[in-house]
This record gives sequence, C-alpha cells and structure tokens, in this order.
Amino acid sequence: MLRVSNEAELTPEAREYLKSESVELMTYTLELHYDYWLADDILKAIFPEELCKDSPTGFAVTGHIAHLNLTEAYLPYKYIIGQVILDKNKTIKTVVNKLNTINTEFRFFKMELIAGEQDYVVEHHESDCRFIFDFSQVYWNSRLQAEHKRVVQLFEPGDVVADVFAGVGPFAIPAARNGCAVFANDLNPIGTKYLRLNVEKNRVKDLVKVTCQDGRNFIREVTARSLKELFPLRATRLSLRQQRLERKDLKIAMQILALKNTNPTVLPRPRIDHFVMNLPDSAINFLDAFRGIMSPASLGRDVSAIYNVMPMVHCYCFTRELEYDKAEVDIRKRVEEQLGYPLVDEVDIHMVRSVAPFKDMYCISFRLPRIVAFEK
Ligand SMILES: C[S@@+](CC[C@H](N)C(=O)[O-])C[C@H]1O[C@@H](n2cnc3c(N)ncnc32)[C@H](O)[C@@H]1O
Repeated sequence: MLRVSNEAELTPEAREYLKSESVELMTYTLELHYDYWLADDILKAIFPEELCKDSPTGFAVTGHIAHLNLTEAYLPYKYIIGQVILDKNKTIKTVVNKLNTINTEFRFFKMELIAGEQDYVVEHHESDCRFIFDFSQVYWNSRLQAEHKRVVQLFEPGDVVADVFAGVGPFAIPAARNGCAVFANDLNPIGTKYLRLNVEKNRVKDLVKVTCQDGRNFIREVTARSLKELFPLRATRLSLRQQRLERKDLKIAMQILALKNTNPTVLPRPRIDHFVMNLPDSAINFLDAFRGIMSPASLGRDVSAIYNVMPMVHCYCFTRELEYDKAEVDIRKRVEEQLGYPLVDEVDIHMVRSVAPFKDMYCISFRLPRIVAFEK
C-alpha cells in the first residue's frame, strides 16, 4: 500500500516506477469493515493506549470452547474481548474466562462465560480417541496431551493398568484401545459419568472397569479385583516367546485362583502391570496405601508367583525445586517417606512442564518395591 492521497506525495522512486510501467494513480474508495480486521487490530482500536502493548486474545481451545486467563487490567473489556474472539473464530461457540479459583477436590477451573452459548459439554479429540465431558465440572488439560501419550506408550498390549485418578480417561481409553485391560477410577461422580460414556463411545467397554471411589481405597482393593476380573482375549499378535511366557503366567494364575477356563473368549489378567497416579498436588501422599496390598493377610492367598514382576508406578507431583538434580532429590525423598522404604529398581524422574514461575510438574516412575507391597 502506498499510503498517499495524491501523486505529489509519492517518493521519486515510486514516481519513476509508475512512469516506467506507463500507469497512473486514480482514486478508489475501499470500505474496510469489521470482517477485514484481525481480532487484535479491533481490540487495539478500542483499548486505551497502555493496554495495547500486550494482546489479550491468546486462548486455548477445548472442543468448541475458547478459554482465556485475562489479567486484571483487561477485565473491564472482557465481554467485548469474548465477542471479538467469537466473531473471528468460526469453530468457537463459547468463550470463557478462567477464574483464579480451582475446585480443590476435583481440580477443575471455575470459569465465567464472556461470550456465546452457555454450553460447556465439549467433544474433544486426543490420541485418536473421542472425549465428551462437561468442561465446567471435570478436570481436563489439553497441555498434557504429549504426557498422556508418553505414558501410554510405556504400556504393552495385554498389560493391566490401574488408573487411580483417571478423570474422563485420557490415559485409560488410549491404553484400552492399545489392548490393555484397565481399572479406571475417579472420585468425581460427574467425571466417572463421562468416563463411562467415553469408554462406550470408544468401544472399549469390555476392557475398562470404572469405579468412583477414593484413590486410597481403590489402591487397596484393586489388586484383589484384578485376580477375579475376566477380560477378552487380546487382539494383538504376540511373539512366540511372549505367547510362551503368557501361557506360563496364566497357568500359574489359574492354579492359584482355582479357576477352570470354561469360556475361552475371556481370561483372567491377574497381575497389575502399571499404576497411574495423576493428581500432582497430593498423589505422593497416597503412596502409603501400597504398603501390604499384596500380602496374604490382605488378599487371603499367596500371590508372589503372580507378581514375579512388580508393577510400575507412575506418580505425578509438583516441586518448587527448579533445578533437575534438586528436584530429583526432593521428589525421591518424599516418595520414599510415604513408602517407608528406599527405591531401588528402575527409577525415572521426568519433568512434565512448568506450571508457575516457581513450580514444576514431574512424573516419577518406579518399580513398586516387593518389600512394600508384601509388607505384613
Ligand atoms: C489432575 S486430574 C487428572 C485427571 C486425568 N488423569 C488427566 O490426566 O486428565 C486429577 C483427578 O483426580 C480426581 N481426584 C481428586 N481427588 C481424588 C481422590 N481422593 N480419589 C480419587 N480421585 C480423586 C479428580 O476428580 C481429577 O479428575
């Protein structure tokens, strides 16, 4: 654009160029209405100058909902900001501002509608799975997509996974889709309502058992439940060695459980291979629930032959130590305090993301010490 109103205002180079091309300037009226402007340009035309330096139009999307975290200074303009975002993004139907309060028990954000429909039930896609949930009543964080994927990739088809704080299923459902049998639990009854719906929608009903109970009770009961539940035969092909190992494991389990296999389409998968504990604020405090869970006193039988391999525990936490080495020491110490024993085997401490200037989220994965689970 030349940005001049007559030829005299042109630079000598521009005038020379017009001459060489044998063209001249003429007047044309172009109306630039609302549709021509970007969201930021519109808001900058409205805001006082001091608010024009930053842009409040950055938002995250979950299903049809755009969610913002507006700072104090922009709050007087929240409705117009919401409306502009709605107008400029055709797939968005609802715009909310996340309030700084979080539901302390079930971890979802309180939010305020600033534009569009008051409809918080979204359909969101992650890892080729469909998730339907009420964003105003259950926990969901799209920023954890890579982390969900990283952990699910650690599971083998046929593994048994116990998800202690399952939410609406971002670990449980992709795991089941990969052939795992899953015990998925959450204390939020609205969360488990949507978890059940998602299990159905993703066609993994026979592989996911949903419960709504406190995580501590779930940890204490799930080992006994896994001895009894039957799951369909896995669809995935196994190597000959894996098949041999599996047949051997199964034979031992059937003997211990005194089971006769009358229905060859469903079989026990008695050993839990992974526990997932994504409640970073307090999951470490639940680890003492593992003490004695596999002892004959709790199960009424000796399962040491079934647990010839102990489960991996993937436990999330926050730390205020921002250097990796210090974070590692801090997390390990807190985990060992709860377990009552030092960690020895296969410990991996993975930085997930920075959640605030002085707070990082980590996942510690470790093999559950035999001495802890079989403690008398
Ligand atoms: C941080 S969210 C994680 C949800 C899901 N795993 C994910 O990654 O999206 C923690 C979940 O733990 C649930 N929760 C909180 N306290 C619990 C408890 N005592 N027992 C079981 N679940 C609990 C919450 O309802 C919430 O869904």
